[in-house]
Amino acid sequence: MPLTQHRTTLTQFLIEERRRYPHASGDFNTLILNVALACKSIARAVAFGALGGVLGDAGGKHAAAAINVQGETQKELDVLSNEAFLRITEWGGQLAGMASEEMAEPYQIPARFPKGKYLLVFDPLDGSSNIDVNVSVGSIFSVLRAPDGVQVASEEDFLQPGTQQLAAGYAIYGPATMLVLTVGNGVNGFTLDPNLGEFMLTHPDMQIPPDTSEFAINSSNSRFWEAPVKRYVDECTAGKSGERGKDFNMRWIASMVAEAHRILMRGGVFLYPRDSKDPAKAGRLRLLYEANPIGFIMEQAGGRASTGRQAVTAVQPEALHQRIGLIFGSRNEVDRIERYHHTPPPEELTNPLFKERSLFRLPN
Ligand code: AHG
Ligand code: MN
Ligand code: MN
Repeated sequence: MPLTQHRTTLTQFLIEERRRYPHASGDFNTLILNVALACKSIARAVAFGALGGVLGDAGGKHAAAAINVQGETQKELDVLSNEAFLRITEWGGQLAGMASEEMAEPYQIPARFPKGKYLLVFDPLDGSSNIDVNVSVGSIFSVLRAPDGVQVASEEDFLQPGTQQLAAGYAIYGPATMLVLTVGNGVNGFTLDPNLGEFMLTHPDMQIPPDTSEFAINSSNSRFWEAPVKRYVDECTAGKSGERGKDFNMRWIASMVAEAHRILMRGGVFLYPRDSKDPAKAGRLRLLYEANPIGFIMEQAGGRASTGRQAVTAVQPEALHQRIGLIFGSRNEVDRIERYHHTPPPEELTNPLFKERSLFRLPN
C-alpha cells in the first residue's frame, strides 16, 4: 500500500501552472508559497485555542485595548497574524510593498531586503470577533502588480481596480484548514494535510451553482437597508407563497471567509450591502482586501460579486481602507439583486403609508 494517496501538492500545482509562462521567473510562485506558509502558521495558532494563550484583545488584560485604523478593537490574533504575513513574505525579494487591514499605512519592505514587482494586500484574520468562540475564521489576500518602476510602493500604487488582480485567495481555519486560490485560471481548493504540513489539491476547478435557495445577511441592520435589498430579502422570506415561489434558508456566520467558502461549495448569496447605518461608511467590508479578492474568486468560479450597482472588481479604489457594499455568490441571484437596484422599487416599499411611523406599521 502506498504511504500516502498521491495528490497534487500546492507546490506541484504552481510549478505546473508556471509552465504555461515559459519566461516566468518563479517569483510569483515563491510569493504564493510564502503566503501559504503564513496561513499554515496562523492555522496552528488558531488551532491551539485557549491553550495557546493568544485569545482575547491585543494589549492583554493590563494594557489599553489596541484599536486599528478601522476603529475596531484588535484581537491578539489579528496582530500576530499580521506579523506572520509580514515576516514570512518580506524577505523574498518579490514585493514592492504590502497593505493590510491592521496597518494604517502601506508597509515598506525593509532596506536590507531586495524589492520585487508585486504588491500584497491582505486581511490577516477575517471574522476575528469569532475567534474566542471557536467559530471558523480565515485570512484573505490579493496580489497586484506594482506600477512600472515602483520599488517602494505608496498608497496610490495600491489603488487598482480588482480586475487588475493577478491572484487572490483565502485560507479558512475550520474543522479542516483549506487554501482556496485563483491565479486567473479558475479556482482550486487545497486541504492542509496536518501530517505532511502540505496543502493538497482536493477541490479542483470549483464552480458555484448559478441558482440557490440560501441567503446570508445580518438582518439586525434591516432598518438601514436600501429598498432593493429590503425587496430581495422580503421576497426570499415570503418563501413558497411569495414572488419567488420557493422557500429559502438563511445563514449568518459573521465570518465572511466562512460564508464565501460555503457559497463556493454549494451556492448561495451573501449580502453586506451599502446601508444608512453610518453615513460616513459606504458599507461594512473593505474593498481592497476583502471585497476584491473574494470578488475575483467568485467570478473565476462562475459566480458574481457586485456593489449592487456594478461588478465590485470594476470599482476604481479611492483609499486603502475604503469600505464598500458587497453582494456575492450564485450568478442568477446577484444578477437579480443588481436588477432590483436598477429598477424602481415596487409601490409598497416607497409608499409612505408603510414607512417607519406609518399608519400600517405593526405594533412593537
Ligand atoms: P474582520 O474580522 O476582518 O474585521 O471582518 C469581519 C467582517 C466579516 O468577516 C463579517 O462578514 C462581518 O464583518 C460581520 O459583520 P457583523 O458584525 O455585522 O455581523
Ligand atoms: Mn475581514
Ligand atoms: Mn480582519
